[in-house]
Amino acid sequence: MKTSSLIKLSLFGMITIIFKRKKPILGTIILTDKCNLSCKHCAVNNINSIIHPYCEIKSEMIELYNQGIRILFFCGGETFLWESEGKNLRDLVNEAKKIGFLIVNIVTNGTLQIDLPEADLILLSLDGAKENHNLIRGDTYDKILENIRSSQSSNICLYMAINKLNKTDIIDVCSVAKNEPNIRAVSFNFHTPYPGTEHLSLTVDEKQKCCDTISSLIDKDYPIFNLRSAFPYIVHIKFPTPCHQCIVMENGKQSICGRCVEIEDLCSKCGYFFAAEYSLVFKGNLKIIFDMLSTYLKYI
Ligand SMILES: C[S@@+](CC[C@H](N)C(=O)[O-])C[C@H]1O[C@@H](n2cnc3c(N)ncnc32)[C@H](O)[C@@H]1O
Ligand code: SF4
Ligand code: SF4
Repeated sequence: MKTSSLIKLSLFGMITIIFKRKKPILGTIILTDKCNLSCKHCAVNNINSIIHPYCEIKSEMIELYNQGIRILFFCGGETFLWESEGKNLRDLVNEAKKIGFLIVNIVTNGTLQIDLPEADLILLSLDGAKENHNLIRGDTYDKILENIRSSQSSNICLYMAINKLNKTDIIDVCSVAKNEPNIRAVSFNFHTPYPGTEHLSLTVDEKQKCCDTISSLIDKDYPIFNLRSAFPYIVHIKFPTPCHQCIVMENGKQSICGRCVEIEDLCSKCGYFFAAEYSLVFKGNLKIIFDMLSTYLKYI
């Protein structure tokens, strides 16, 4: 991350904490719900299979920027399926940078060609070692590894949603992150039990074991893009929800924190690490603030 960006984001953080403001800094735009996969844990794919048009996405970007958002994520559905008015995902990332976003990340299932050096981070979902990943995501593991290896850029961060099926595969995903030159790090979430996927949730004990494993891998210098200081809050879901510093835009509609905010009682079962990390940072938790600064400097 550029020093100037770090200074701007730190200033935002200080003002938010001192004046107890609720202004958002991180925004996500949903480009489409269309997806080429149908993962076992996912409840947001192919509901309408709509690709939102370029003009709509551009006006959402401008709206988010004008609200003060400086970290932007593009998400889906599958983001690399997005095309509209002759534009593709690369054009959107370039447009976002031109507008002035300091960090622009995308989230992808990695099954299509993933060259996008213009993005700060490509969060690429890998949900375990080959067997469990394929159980959750269909027979895609080999293709994803092939795409990672043939990518021209090393801005890939693996993204693993830990659930009942893959909870023993944390070390395998961390090893891929460590050994593949194009991968910078790995970032974890716990399963969030959208209706119909409750059976994949972890118990508190299972989450604790996973966090212990991740902690021991951080000690062994595996590249892990999560804040260890937030683990106790994540395991017991003891953080303020929803997170007011994050917003999501889908089809012109804005929600605080995530689309999931609309699902009754889901926040009390939240598994998204970002929600805990951001809400605790902006509540002024010093340990987590320092952890965030050092982790972000390392991996973005
Ligand atoms: C909805 S997908 C969209 C982007 C892309 N299709 C992908 O799979 O990365 C974004 C991320 O949400 C994760 N995800 C989906 N359902 C989830 C759930 N119930 N709990 C936690 N994470 C989930 C996916 O594993 C993926 O990493
Ligand atoms: S690839 Fe992403 S959007 Fe598609 S089904 Fe899987 S998690 Fe959901
Ligand atoms: S806290 Fe945020 S990410 Fe977690 S379930 Fe609620 S709205 Fe979704």
